[in-house]
Amino acid sequence: MVKPDGVQRGLIGEVIKRIEGRGLKIVSLRMNTISPDSAKEHYAEHAQKPFFNSLISFITSGPSVSMVVEGKNAIAVLRAINGATNPINAATGSIRGDLALDTGRNIVHASDSPESAKREISIHFKESEISDYSRIDETWIYE
Ligand code: RTP
Ligand code: MG
Repeated sequence: MVKPDGVQRGLIGEVIKRIEGRGLKIVSLRMNTISPDSAKEHYAEHAQKPFFNSLISFITSGPSVSMVVEGKNAIAVLRAINGATNPINAATGSIRGDLALDTGRNIVHASDSPESAKREISIHFKESEISDYSRIDETWIYE
């Protein structure tokens, strides 16, 4: 997900460029302003954390871009593309390491396990909105 700060800063293309360039496949994509109910469900694991309320108000504050991304080791690769949660710890070359300074404005979200991916995708997408296709360059991305 490109969070509202990433959208406002004109970084949608920058994020998508890094995902596509790595060889990962975008199988669904849309822009919307997440509802408070969806946001609370999405971040349910953080419900007891002190930053929960500000996180919900931020993530619902304007449009964000949600994607479903597939590929070999997609979760680990995408989290490396994003970089560490706190940008001060994010590797240079990652989105957060190159473009962010503050944990609460860290531009992107990515699921942290297959189970959370499944759960989060079901919050933001219908099954019928996910495309099944091959990229024409897959034989040059995968051995
Ligand atoms: P995300 O879920 O957004 O991909 O980020 P993450 O896995 O790297 O980090 P996570 O621990 O899941 O935290 C979710 C988001 O909550 C905000 N946060 N604020 N103020 C704080 O201490 C704090 N900690 C986390 C960040 O926006 C983080 O991405
Ligand atoms: Mg997380």
